[in-house]
Amino acid sequence: MTTAVGTQTKFEDALYELCELDYDAVEAYEAAINRLEKEDYKAKLREFKNDHQRHIEEIRKLLQMHQAKIPEGPSLKGLLTQGKVVLGNLFGDNSILNAMLSNEMDTNKAYERLNAHAEKWVDAIDTLTRGLEDERRHKEWLEMVIKKDK
Ligand SMILES: [Fe+2]
Ligand SMILES: [Fe+2]
Repeated sequence: MTTAVGTQTKFEDALYELCELDYDAVEAYEAAINRLEKEDYKAKLREFKNDHQRHIEEIRKLLQMHQAKIPEGPSLKGLLTQGKVVLGNLFGDNSILNAMLSNEMDTNKAYERLNAHAEKWVDAIDTLTRGLEDERRHKEWLEMVIKKDK
């Protein structure tokens, strides 16, 4: 299942959900980091988790500047197909990395939609451009390491 994040007509609603998605991603990363064996993988995933945390801060600032509603934390809606619960039950580095790859496909899709949104705020361009670059980097690293590990 692909995420619906970013399909909302009102830009602030789409951005609100993007922020929730980043919160969900942080939780999924925490679960993944706890279960991974290889230290190199853990270190890389900590880096990616920090990127998501930075995205949350930046999106919150944007919503605040526009007096829009700001999410309190993770969505409870399961915006990610491989959320923290799934991650918490996986065994083996390869299956964990594969689950995180499908999450990063969701974040890529969501950031692409936000970047292409018809009502995109001018002051959101920087955050969304850099955010998409980060998400692409996360996805590419996961693809590369999964291929190598096979
Ligand atoms: Fe993000
Ligand atoms: Fe990511």
